[in-house]
Amino acid sequence: MSLKNISLTLLVAILGILASKGIIRSSRPSLLKQLIELGSTTLSSQPIIAPIIPYIIEGHHHQHHNRHHSKGNKVNICDDFPPDFPPPDTNTTSIFCVDRNGCCNFTTVQAAVDAVANFSQKRTILWINSGIYYEKVNVPITKPNITFQGQGYTSTAIVWNDTANSSGGTFYSGSVQVFSNNFIAKNISFMNVAPIPGPGDKGAQAVAIRISGDQAAFWGCGFFGAQDTLHDDIGRHYFKECYIQGSIDFIFGNGRSLYENCQLISMANPVAPGQRVINGAVTAHGRTSKDENTGFAFVNCSLGGTGRIWLGRAWRPFSRVVFAYTAMTDIIAPEGWNDFNDPTRDQTVFYGEYNCVGSGANMALRAPYVQRLNNAQAAPFLNMSFIEGDQWLLPFV
Ligand SMILES: *[C@@H]1O[C@H](CO)[C@@H](O)[C@H](O)[C@H]1NC(C)=O
Ligand SMILES: *[C@@H]1O[C@H](CO)[C@@H](O)[C@H](O)[C@H]1NC(C)=O
Ligand SMILES: *[C@@H]1O[C@H](CO)[C@@H](O)[C@H](O)[C@H]1NC(C)=O
Ligand SMILES: *[C@@H]1O[C@H](CO)[C@@H](O)[C@H](O)[C@H]1NC(C)=O
Ligand SMILES: *[C@@H]1O[C@H](CO)[C@@H](O)[C@H](O)[C@H]1NC(C)=O
Ligand SMILES: *[C@@H]1O[C@H](CO)[C@@H](O)[C@H](O)[C@H]1NC(C)=O
Ligand SMILES: *[C@@H]1O[C@H](CO)[C@@H](O)[C@H](O)[C@H]1NC(C)=O
Ligand SMILES: *[C@@H]1O[C@H](CO)[C@@H](O)[C@H](O)[C@H]1NC(C)=O
Ligand SMILES: *[C@@H]1O[C@H](CO)[C@@H](O)[C@H](O)[C@H]1NC(C)=O
Repeated sequence: MSLKNISLTLLVAILGILASKGIIRSSRPSLLKQLIELGSTTLSSQPIIAPIIPYIIEGHHHQHHNRHHSKGNKVNICDDFPPDFPPPDTNTTSIFCVDRNGCCNFTTVQAAVDAVANFSQKRTILWINSGIYYEKVNVPITKPNITFQGQGYTSTAIVWNDTANSSGGTFYSGSVQVFSNNFIAKNISFMNVAPIPGPGDKGAQAVAIRISGDQAAFWGCGFFGAQDTLHDDIGRHYFKECYIQGSIDFIFGNGRSLYENCQLISMANPVAPGQRVINGAVTAHGRTSKDENTGFAFVNCSLGGTGRIWLGRAWRPFSRVVFAYTAMTDIIAPEGWNDFNDPTRDQTVFYGEYNCVGSGANMALRAPYVQRLNNAQAAPFLNMSFIEGDQWLLPFV
Protein backbone atom coordinates (compact mmCIF):
# COMPACT_ATOMS: atom_id res chain seq x y z
CA MET A 1 0.00 0.00 0.00
CA SER A 2 1.49 3.32 -0.92
CA LEU A 3 0.94 6.53 0.98
CA LYS A 4 -1.34 7.75 -1.75
CA ASN A 5 -3.81 4.99 -0.95
CA ILE A 6 -4.02 5.65 2.77
CA SER A 7 -7.32 7.14 3.79
CA LEU A 8 -7.36 10.30 5.78
CA THR A 9 -8.86 8.54 8.77
CA LEU A 10 -5.83 6.34 8.72
CA LEU A 11 -3.42 9.22 8.34
CA VAL A 12 -4.93 10.92 11.34
CA ALA A 13 -4.64 7.66 13.24
CA ILE A 14 -0.99 7.31 12.28
CA LEU A 15 -0.24 10.89 13.28
CA GLY A 16 -1.83 10.27 16.65
CA ILE A 17 0.05 7.03 17.22
CA LEU A 18 3.39 8.48 16.24
CA ALA A 19 2.80 11.44 18.51
CA SER A 20 1.61 9.35 21.46
CA LYS A 21 4.64 7.08 21.23
CA GLY A 22 7.00 10.03 20.91
CA ILE A 23 8.18 8.77 17.52
CA ILE A 24 7.55 12.04 15.74
CA ARG A 25 9.36 14.08 18.34
CA SER A 26 12.42 11.93 18.70
CA SER A 27 13.44 11.59 15.09
CA ARG A 28 14.54 14.16 12.58
CA PRO A 29 13.31 12.86 9.20
CA SER A 30 10.13 14.43 7.99
CA LEU A 31 6.83 12.93 9.00
CA LEU A 32 5.77 12.71 5.41
CA LYS A 33 8.80 10.52 4.74
CA GLN A 34 8.07 8.40 7.81
CA LEU A 35 4.53 7.97 6.63
CA ILE A 36 5.70 6.83 3.24
CA GLU A 37 8.01 4.28 4.86
CA LEU A 38 5.34 3.12 7.28
CA GLY A 39 2.82 3.00 4.50
CA SER A 40 4.97 0.59 2.51
CA THR A 41 5.73 -1.70 5.43
CA THR A 42 3.61 -2.05 8.55
CA LEU A 43 0.32 -0.73 7.32
CA SER A 44 -0.40 -3.15 4.54
CA SER A 45 -3.12 -5.12 6.30
CA GLN A 46 -6.49 -3.89 7.47
CA PRO A 47 -6.70 -5.85 10.79
CA ILE A 48 -3.84 -3.90 12.35
CA ILE A 49 -5.48 -0.65 11.50
CA ALA A 50 -9.06 -1.24 12.52
CA PRO A 51 -8.62 -1.43 16.32
CA ILE A 52 -6.35 1.61 16.34
CA ILE A 53 -8.69 4.08 14.78
CA PRO A 54 -11.35 4.33 17.49
CA TYR A 55 -8.62 4.78 20.09
CA ILE A 56 -7.04 7.72 18.38
CA ILE A 57 -9.97 9.51 16.88
CA GLU A 58 -12.33 9.48 19.79
CA GLY A 59 -15.72 10.81 18.93
CA HIS A 60 -15.05 11.05 15.23
CA HIS A 61 -17.25 9.64 12.57
CA HIS A 62 -15.54 6.79 10.86
CA GLN A 63 -16.00 6.29 7.21
CA HIS A 64 -14.47 3.31 5.53
CA HIS A 65 -13.73 3.63 1.90
CA ASN A 66 -13.20 0.12 0.75
CA ARG A 67 -14.13 0.49 -2.84
CA HIS A 68 -10.58 -0.18 -3.98
CA HIS A 69 -10.42 -3.42 -2.03
CA SER A 70 -13.85 -4.96 -1.90
CA LYS A 71 -15.05 -4.99 -5.48
CA GLY A 72 -12.38 -7.14 -7.06
CA ASN A 73 -9.69 -6.21 -9.53
CA LYS A 74 -11.55 -5.19 -12.62
CA VAL A 75 -13.61 -2.43 -11.10
CA ASN A 76 -13.11 1.02 -12.54
CA ILE A 77 -12.01 3.41 -9.85
CA CYS A 78 -14.51 5.99 -11.15
CA ASP A 79 -17.51 3.63 -11.14
CA ASP A 80 -19.04 4.97 -7.95
CA PHE A 81 -18.44 8.54 -8.93
CA PRO A 82 -21.58 10.69 -9.24
CA PRO A 83 -22.75 10.57 -12.86
CA ASP A 84 -23.21 13.84 -14.79
CA PHE A 85 -21.06 15.67 -12.29
CA PRO A 86 -20.52 18.57 -12.00
CA PRO A 87 -23.95 20.00 -12.80
CA PRO A 88 -24.08 22.93 -15.22
CA ASP A 89 -23.49 26.49 -14.04
CA THR A 90 -26.35 28.57 -12.76
CA ASN A 91 -26.53 32.36 -12.66
CA THR A 92 -25.12 32.38 -9.17
CA THR A 93 -22.95 29.27 -8.86
CA SER A 94 -20.37 27.22 -10.74
CA ILE A 95 -19.24 23.81 -9.51
CA PHE A 96 -15.72 22.60 -10.28
CA CYS A 97 -14.95 18.99 -9.56
CA VAL A 98 -11.65 17.82 -8.07
CA ASP A 99 -10.76 14.13 -7.82
CA ARG A 100 -7.20 12.99 -7.37
CA ASN A 101 -7.83 9.79 -9.31
CA GLY A 102 -8.80 11.74 -12.39
CA CYS A 103 -12.51 10.90 -12.33
CA CYS A 104 -13.45 14.49 -13.16
CA ASN A 105 -11.98 17.75 -14.44
CA PHE A 106 -9.27 18.52 -11.91
CA THR A 107 -6.81 16.30 -10.07
CA THR A 108 -5.43 19.02 -7.80
CA VAL A 109 -7.15 21.70 -5.77
CA GLN A 110 -4.73 24.33 -7.04
CA ALA A 111 -5.54 23.57 -10.67
CA ALA A 112 -9.21 24.17 -9.90
CA VAL A 113 -8.46 27.41 -8.05
CA ASP A 114 -6.38 28.54 -11.04
CA ALA A 115 -9.33 27.93 -13.36
CA VAL A 116 -11.68 30.16 -11.37
CA ALA A 117 -12.23 33.49 -13.11
CA ASN A 118 -10.58 36.49 -11.46
CA PHE A 119 -12.96 38.73 -9.51
CA SER A 120 -15.97 36.52 -10.21
CA GLN A 121 -19.07 37.67 -8.36
CA LYS A 122 -20.52 34.19 -8.68
CA ARG A 123 -19.72 31.60 -6.08
CA THR A 124 -17.46 28.83 -7.35
CA ILE A 125 -17.77 25.59 -5.41
CA LEU A 126 -14.75 23.31 -5.61
CA TRP A 127 -16.26 19.92 -4.92
CA ILE A 128 -13.30 17.91 -3.66
CA ASN A 129 -13.64 14.15 -3.52
CA SER A 130 -12.37 11.97 -0.68
CA GLY A 131 -8.63 11.62 -0.52
CA ILE A 132 -5.47 13.31 0.60
CA TYR A 133 -4.32 16.11 -1.66
CA TYR A 134 -0.56 16.55 -1.21
CA GLU A 135 -0.10 20.09 -2.38
CA LYS A 136 0.39 23.61 -1.17
CA VAL A 137 -2.65 25.65 -2.16
CA ASN A 138 -2.82 29.38 -2.66
CA VAL A 139 -6.14 31.20 -3.07
CA PRO A 140 -5.14 34.65 -4.33
CA ILE A 141 -6.83 37.92 -3.47
CA THR A 142 -8.25 38.06 -7.02
CA LYS A 143 -10.51 35.05 -6.37
CA PRO A 144 -13.29 35.87 -3.93
CA ASN A 145 -16.37 33.67 -3.39
CA ILE A 146 -14.70 30.26 -3.48
CA THR A 147 -16.04 27.28 -1.52
CA PHE A 148 -13.99 24.16 -0.76
CA GLN A 149 -16.54 21.37 -0.29
CA GLY A 150 -14.97 18.15 1.02
CA GLN A 151 -16.60 14.82 1.86
CA GLY A 152 -16.01 14.98 5.63
CA TYR A 153 -13.03 16.18 7.60
CA THR A 154 -11.78 12.65 8.11
CA SER A 155 -12.21 11.89 4.41
CA THR A 156 -10.83 14.85 2.45
CA ALA A 157 -7.66 16.72 3.36
CA ILE A 158 -5.13 19.10 1.91
CA VAL A 159 -1.72 18.25 3.32
CA TRP A 160 1.71 19.84 3.04
CA ASN A 161 4.78 20.17 5.23
CA ASP A 162 6.37 23.61 4.93
CA THR A 163 7.91 25.14 8.04
CA ALA A 164 8.92 28.69 8.93
CA ASN A 165 12.42 27.74 7.81
CA SER A 166 11.44 26.13 4.53
CA SER A 167 9.06 28.90 3.44
CA GLY A 168 10.69 32.17 4.49
CA GLY A 169 8.74 32.60 7.74
CA THR A 170 5.85 31.19 9.74
CA PHE A 171 3.37 33.37 7.84
CA TYR A 172 4.23 31.63 4.56
CA SER A 173 4.31 28.06 5.85
CA GLY A 174 0.59 27.37 5.47
CA SER A 175 -0.41 24.24 3.57
CA VAL A 176 -3.33 26.37 2.38
CA GLN A 177 -3.22 30.16 2.19
CA VAL A 178 -6.37 32.16 1.60
CA PHE A 179 -6.01 35.82 0.67
CA SER A 180 -9.41 36.36 -0.91
CA ASN A 181 -12.69 37.42 0.69
CA ASN A 182 -15.85 35.37 1.12
CA PHE A 183 -14.03 32.05 1.34
CA ILE A 184 -16.00 29.05 2.64
CA ALA A 185 -14.79 25.57 3.55
CA LYS A 186 -17.01 22.64 4.45
CA ASN A 187 -16.18 19.13 5.62
CA ILE A 188 -12.49 19.20 4.78
CA SER A 189 -9.22 19.10 6.71
CA PHE A 190 -6.17 21.29 6.46
CA MET A 191 -2.97 19.67 7.69
CA ASN A 192 0.67 20.46 8.11
CA VAL A 193 2.70 17.29 8.64
CA ALA A 194 6.13 18.87 9.13
CA PRO A 195 8.11 17.36 12.03
CA ILE A 196 6.77 18.43 15.41
CA PRO A 197 9.15 20.98 16.95
CA GLY A 198 11.15 19.75 19.92
CA PRO A 199 11.70 22.04 22.90
CA GLY A 200 13.82 25.01 21.88
CA ASP A 201 13.67 24.28 18.15
CA LYS A 202 13.73 27.38 15.97
CA GLY A 203 12.06 27.72 12.61
CA ALA A 204 9.95 24.57 12.92
CA GLN A 205 6.57 26.33 13.19
CA ALA A 206 4.24 24.90 10.58
CA VAL A 207 0.88 26.42 9.71
CA ALA A 208 -1.95 24.27 8.32
CA ILE A 209 -3.96 27.23 6.98
CA ARG A 210 -3.58 30.98 6.86
CA ILE A 211 -6.79 32.96 6.54
CA SER A 212 -6.13 36.52 5.47
CA GLY A 213 -9.38 37.36 3.72
CA ASP A 214 -12.49 38.92 5.24
CA GLN A 215 -15.79 37.07 5.72
CA ALA A 216 -14.60 33.47 5.78
CA ALA A 217 -16.61 30.55 7.15
CA PHE A 218 -15.57 27.01 8.10
CA TRP A 219 -18.10 24.29 8.78
CA GLY A 220 -17.19 20.82 10.00
CA CYS A 221 -13.51 21.32 9.15
CA GLY A 222 -10.32 19.84 10.63
CA PHE A 223 -7.10 21.73 11.32
CA PHE A 224 -4.09 19.55 12.14
CA GLY A 225 -0.62 20.67 13.10
CA ALA A 226 1.50 21.33 16.17
CA GLN A 227 2.94 24.81 16.72
CA ASP A 228 0.91 27.56 14.96
CA THR A 229 -1.67 25.29 13.30
CA LEU A 230 -4.37 27.84 12.49
CA HIS A 231 -3.26 31.28 11.38
CA ASP A 232 -6.45 33.27 11.93
CA ASP A 233 -4.71 36.29 10.43
CA ILE A 234 -6.99 39.12 9.35
CA GLY A 235 -10.72 39.57 8.86
CA ARG A 236 -14.03 38.35 10.22
CA HIS A 237 -14.20 34.57 10.42
CA TYR A 238 -16.65 31.93 11.56
CA PHE A 239 -15.85 28.36 12.63
CA LYS A 240 -18.56 25.86 13.46
CA GLU A 241 -18.16 22.24 14.58
CA CYS A 242 -14.49 22.22 13.70
CA TYR A 243 -11.68 20.03 15.09
CA ILE A 244 -8.53 22.01 15.81
CA GLN A 245 -5.34 20.30 16.95
CA GLY A 246 -2.00 21.78 17.96
CA SER A 247 0.48 22.49 20.70
CA ILE A 248 1.91 26.01 21.03
CA ASP A 249 -0.18 29.03 19.98
CA PHE A 250 -2.24 26.74 17.82
CA ILE A 251 -4.83 29.40 17.02
CA PHE A 252 -3.01 32.66 16.39
CA GLY A 253 -3.34 35.90 14.48
CA ASN A 254 -5.32 39.14 14.61
CA GLY A 255 -8.64 37.95 13.23
CA ARG A 256 -12.07 38.76 14.62
CA SER A 257 -13.48 35.26 14.90
CA LEU A 258 -16.28 33.27 16.44
CA TYR A 259 -15.63 29.59 17.16
CA GLU A 260 -18.83 27.68 17.94
CA ASN A 261 -19.12 24.04 19.05
CA CYS A 262 -15.50 23.33 18.16
CA GLN A 263 -13.17 20.70 19.62
CA LEU A 264 -9.80 22.13 20.60
CA ILE A 265 -7.23 19.40 21.12
CA SER A 266 -3.79 20.00 22.58
CA MET A 267 -1.13 17.51 21.51
CA ALA A 268 1.64 18.98 23.65
CA ASN A 269 3.79 16.41 25.48
CA PRO A 270 2.04 14.87 28.48
CA VAL A 271 3.16 16.50 31.73
CA ALA A 272 3.53 14.41 34.90
CA PRO A 273 1.42 15.51 37.87
CA GLY A 274 3.42 17.82 40.12
CA GLN A 275 5.66 19.05 37.32
CA ARG A 276 5.28 22.78 36.87
CA VAL A 277 6.19 22.96 33.20
CA ILE A 278 3.87 24.68 30.72
CA ASN A 279 4.30 23.43 27.18
CA GLY A 280 1.56 24.92 25.07
CA ALA A 281 -1.09 27.56 24.53
CA VAL A 282 -4.39 27.42 22.69
CA THR A 283 -4.32 31.01 21.45
CA ALA A 284 -1.90 33.81 20.69
CA HIS A 285 -4.12 36.66 19.65
CA GLY A 286 -2.37 39.63 18.03
CA ARG A 287 -4.45 42.75 18.68
CA THR A 288 -2.08 45.73 18.69
CA SER A 289 -4.26 48.61 19.92
CA LYS A 290 -7.49 49.23 21.80
CA ASP A 291 -8.99 50.73 18.64
CA GLU A 292 -8.80 47.45 16.75
CA ASN A 293 -12.01 45.48 16.81
CA THR A 294 -10.46 42.03 16.72
CA GLY A 295 -10.48 39.04 19.03
CA PHE A 296 -11.21 35.34 19.32
CA ALA A 297 -14.47 34.21 20.91
CA PHE A 298 -15.00 30.54 21.76
CA VAL A 299 -18.55 29.54 22.55
CA ASN A 300 -19.73 26.05 23.52
CA CYS A 301 -16.40 24.48 22.62
CA SER A 302 -14.54 21.64 24.30
CA LEU A 303 -10.88 21.79 25.20
CA GLY A 304 -8.81 18.71 25.99
CA GLY A 305 -5.87 16.58 24.94
CA THR A 306 -2.41 16.37 26.47
CA GLY A 307 0.18 18.67 28.04
CA ARG A 308 -0.19 21.57 30.44
CA ILE A 309 -1.19 24.67 28.57
CA TRP A 310 -2.49 28.20 28.77
CA LEU A 311 -5.74 29.35 27.22
CA GLY A 312 -3.80 32.16 25.62
CA ARG A 313 -0.72 34.27 25.68
CA ALA A 314 -0.38 37.92 24.83
CA TRP A 315 1.41 37.79 21.51
CA ARG A 316 0.59 41.50 21.11
CA PRO A 317 -0.23 43.97 23.93
CA PHE A 318 -4.01 44.21 23.31
CA SER A 319 -4.59 40.51 22.77
CA ARG A 320 -8.32 39.75 23.18
CA VAL A 321 -9.82 36.30 23.79
CA VAL A 322 -13.00 35.06 25.44
CA PHE A 323 -14.00 31.52 26.37
CA ALA A 324 -17.70 30.99 27.09
CA TYR A 325 -19.73 27.86 27.84
CA THR A 326 -16.61 25.80 27.15
CA ALA A 327 -15.67 22.52 28.83
CA MET A 328 -12.01 22.36 29.82
CA THR A 329 -10.05 19.40 31.18
CA ASP A 330 -7.26 19.68 33.74
CA ILE A 331 -4.64 20.30 31.04
CA ILE A 332 -5.25 24.02 31.60
CA ALA A 333 -2.65 25.55 33.93
CA PRO A 334 -4.32 27.07 37.04
CA GLU A 335 -3.20 30.63 36.15
CA GLY A 336 -4.88 30.11 32.80
CA TRP A 337 -3.19 32.79 30.77
CA ASN A 338 0.22 34.36 30.15
CA ASP A 339 1.33 37.94 29.46
CA PHE A 340 4.26 36.93 27.25
CA ASN A 341 6.63 37.84 30.09
CA ASP A 342 5.68 41.49 29.70
CA PRO A 343 3.83 42.76 32.81
CA THR A 344 2.85 45.99 31.03
CA ARG A 345 0.49 43.82 28.96
CA ASP A 346 -1.46 42.94 32.11
CA GLN A 347 -3.09 46.37 31.77
CA THR A 348 -4.01 46.06 28.09
CA VAL A 349 -5.01 42.47 27.34
CA PHE A 350 -8.66 41.42 27.42
CA TYR A 351 -8.91 37.85 28.62
CA GLY A 352 -12.36 36.78 29.75
CA GLU A 353 -14.07 33.59 30.83
CA TYR A 354 -17.81 33.07 31.14
CA ASN A 355 -19.77 30.03 32.29
CA CYS A 356 -17.08 27.51 31.47
CA VAL A 357 -17.07 24.07 33.08
CA GLY A 358 -14.62 21.28 33.92
CA SER A 359 -11.57 21.17 36.14
CA GLY A 360 -9.59 23.39 33.75
CA ALA A 361 -12.19 26.14 34.15
CA ASN A 362 -11.60 26.64 37.86
CA MET A 363 -10.74 30.33 38.14
CA ALA A 364 -9.55 30.35 41.76
CA LEU A 365 -5.88 30.67 40.83
CA ARG A 366 -6.20 32.65 37.61
CA ALA A 367 -3.74 35.45 36.77
CA PRO A 368 -4.99 38.74 38.28
CA TYR A 369 -5.71 40.39 34.92
CA VAL A 370 -8.15 37.65 33.81
CA GLN A 371 -11.80 38.75 33.87
CA ARG A 372 -14.73 36.76 35.18
CA LEU A 373 -17.18 38.26 32.72
CA ASN A 374 -20.67 39.16 33.85
CA ASN A 375 -23.66 38.77 31.52
CA ALA A 376 -23.35 42.24 30.01
CA GLN A 377 -19.61 41.95 29.47
CA ALA A 378 -19.94 38.53 27.85
CA ALA A 379 -22.91 39.34 25.59
CA PRO A 380 -20.98 40.94 22.68
CA PHE A 381 -18.93 37.75 22.25
CA LEU A 382 -21.65 35.12 22.41
CA ASN A 383 -23.22 35.14 18.98
CA MET A 384 -22.52 36.04 15.37
CA SER A 385 -23.08 39.73 16.00
CA PHE A 386 -19.44 39.68 17.20
CA ILE A 387 -18.37 39.12 13.59
CA GLU A 388 -21.30 41.01 12.03
CA GLY A 389 -22.44 37.70 10.62
CA ASP A 390 -25.87 39.08 9.74
CA GLN A 391 -24.14 41.09 7.01
CA TRP A 392 -22.40 38.21 5.29
CA LEU A 393 -22.62 34.77 6.91
CA LEU A 394 -24.61 32.33 4.78
CA PRO A 395 -26.39 29.36 6.33
CA PHE A 396 -24.66 25.98 6.02
CA VAL A 397 -26.89 24.66 3.25
C1 LIG B 1 8.54 17.68 3.31
O1 LIG B 1 8.50 16.31 2.93
C2 LIG B 1 9.38 15.97 1.87
C3 LIG B 1 9.14 14.52 1.50
O2 LIG B 1 9.41 13.70 2.59
C4 LIG B 1 10.82 16.25 2.31
O3 LIG B 1 11.70 16.00 1.23
C5 LIG B 1 10.96 17.70 2.75
O4 LIG B 1 12.25 17.92 3.25
C6 LIG B 1 9.94 18.02 3.82
N1 LIG B 1 10.02 19.44 4.16
C7 LIG B 1 10.18 19.86 5.40
C8 LIG B 1 10.28 21.33 5.58
O5 LIG B 1 10.26 19.10 6.34
C1 LIG C 1 -30.22 33.70 -15.44
O1 LIG C 1 -29.68 34.45 -16.51
C2 LIG C 1 -30.41 34.33 -17.72
C3 LIG C 1 -29.66 35.04 -18.84
O2 LIG C 1 -29.14 36.29 -18.39
C4 LIG C 1 -31.82 34.90 -17.51
O3 LIG C 1 -32.56 34.73 -18.69
C5 LIG C 1 -32.49 34.13 -16.38
O4 LIG C 1 -33.75 34.69 -16.08
C6 LIG C 1 -31.65 34.16 -15.14
N1 LIG C 1 -32.21 33.27 -14.14
C7 LIG C 1 -32.37 33.64 -12.88
C8 LIG C 1 -32.97 32.61 -11.98
O5 LIG C 1 -32.05 34.74 -12.46
C1 LIG D 1 -15.54 20.00 -16.83
O1 LIG D 1 -15.76 18.96 -17.75
C2 LIG D 1 -16.93 19.09 -18.53
C3 LIG D 1 -17.06 17.87 -19.42
O2 LIG D 1 -16.75 16.72 -18.69
C4 LIG D 1 -16.85 20.36 -19.35
O3 LIG D 1 -18.06 20.52 -20.06
C5 LIG D 1 -16.63 21.53 -18.43
O4 LIG D 1 -16.45 22.71 -19.17
C6 LIG D 1 -15.42 21.31 -17.56
N1 LIG D 1 -15.33 22.40 -16.59
C7 LIG D 1 -14.22 23.06 -16.40
C8 LIG D 1 -14.29 24.16 -15.37
O5 LIG D 1 -13.20 22.83 -16.97
C1 LIG E 1 -6.19 35.70 -13.22
O1 LIG E 1 -5.22 36.75 -13.22
C2 LIG E 1 -3.88 36.28 -13.26
C3 LIG E 1 -2.95 37.46 -13.03
O2 LIG E 1 -3.30 38.52 -13.88
C4 LIG E 1 -3.66 35.57 -14.59
O3 LIG E 1 -2.33 35.08 -14.67
C5 LIG E 1 -4.64 34.40 -14.70
O4 LIG E 1 -4.53 33.80 -15.95
C6 LIG E 1 -6.06 34.86 -14.49
N1 LIG E 1 -6.90 33.67 -14.36
C7 LIG E 1 -8.01 33.48 -15.04
C8 LIG E 1 -8.69 32.17 -14.84
O5 LIG E 1 -8.48 34.32 -15.78
C1 LIG F 1 -18.27 37.90 -4.03
O1 LIG F 1 -17.18 38.61 -3.46
C2 LIG F 1 -17.40 40.00 -3.40
C3 LIG F 1 -16.11 40.61 -2.91
O2 LIG F 1 -15.65 39.96 -1.77
C4 LIG F 1 -18.59 40.28 -2.49
O3 LIG F 1 -18.83 41.68 -2.45
C5 LIG F 1 -19.81 39.56 -3.06
O4 LIG F 1 -20.88 39.71 -2.16
C6 LIG F 1 -19.52 38.08 -3.22
N1 LIG F 1 -20.61 37.42 -3.90
C7 LIG F 1 -21.14 36.29 -3.47
C8 LIG F 1 -22.19 35.69 -4.32
O5 LIG F 1 -20.80 35.75 -2.44
C1 LIG G 1 16.01 26.72 10.95
O1 LIG G 1 17.10 27.47 10.43
C2 LIG G 1 18.03 27.90 11.44
C3 LIG G 1 19.05 28.80 10.75
O2 LIG G 1 19.53 28.19 9.59
C4 LIG G 1 18.65 26.67 12.09
O3 LIG G 1 19.53 27.08 13.11
C5 LIG G 1 17.54 25.81 12.68
O4 LIG G 1 18.07 24.63 13.23
C6 LIG G 1 16.51 25.45 11.64
N1 LIG G 1 15.40 24.77 12.28
C7 LIG G 1 14.93 23.61 11.88
C8 LIG G 1 13.76 23.06 12.64
O5 LIG G 1 15.36 22.99 10.93
C1 LIG H 1 -20.31 18.47 7.28
O1 LIG H 1 -20.24 19.44 8.31
C2 LIG H 1 -21.50 19.68 8.93
C3 LIG H 1 -21.30 20.83 9.88
O2 LIG H 1 -20.39 20.49 10.88
C4 LIG H 1 -21.98 18.39 9.60
O3 LIG H 1 -23.24 18.61 10.18
C5 LIG H 1 -22.06 17.30 8.58
O4 LIG H 1 -22.38 16.08 9.21
C6 LIG H 1 -20.74 17.14 7.84
N1 LIG H 1 -20.86 16.18 6.75
C7 LIG H 1 -19.99 15.20 6.55
C8 LIG H 1 -20.22 14.33 5.36
O5 LIG H 1 -19.01 15.01 7.27
C1 LIG I 1 -22.76 22.66 22.01
O1 LIG I 1 -21.83 21.82 21.31
C2 LIG I 1 -22.22 20.46 21.28
C3 LIG I 1 -21.07 19.69 20.66
O2 LIG I 1 -20.63 20.30 19.48
C4 LIG I 1 -23.53 20.34 20.51
O3 LIG I 1 -23.92 19.01 20.48
C5 LIG I 1 -24.59 21.22 21.18
O4 LIG I 1 -25.76 21.21 20.40
C6 LIG I 1 -24.09 22.64 21.30
N1 LIG I 1 -25.05 23.47 22.02
C7 LIG I 1 -25.48 24.63 21.52
C8 LIG I 1 -26.41 25.38 22.39
O5 LIG I 1 -25.11 25.04 20.43
C1 LIG J 1 -26.51 38.61 19.79
O1 LIG J 1 -25.89 39.37 20.80
C2 LIG J 1 -26.20 40.75 20.74
C3 LIG J 1 -25.31 41.45 21.75
O2 LIG J 1 -25.60 40.99 23.02
C4 LIG J 1 -27.69 40.95 20.99
O3 LIG J 1 -28.03 42.32 20.90
C5 LIG J 1 -28.47 40.17 19.93
O4 LIG J 1 -29.84 40.21 20.23
C6 LIG J 1 -28.02 38.71 19.88
N1 LIG J 1 -28.59 38.09 18.68
C7 LIG J 1 -29.12 36.88 18.69
C8 LIG J 1 -29.61 36.38 17.38
O5 LIG J 1 -29.20 36.21 19.70
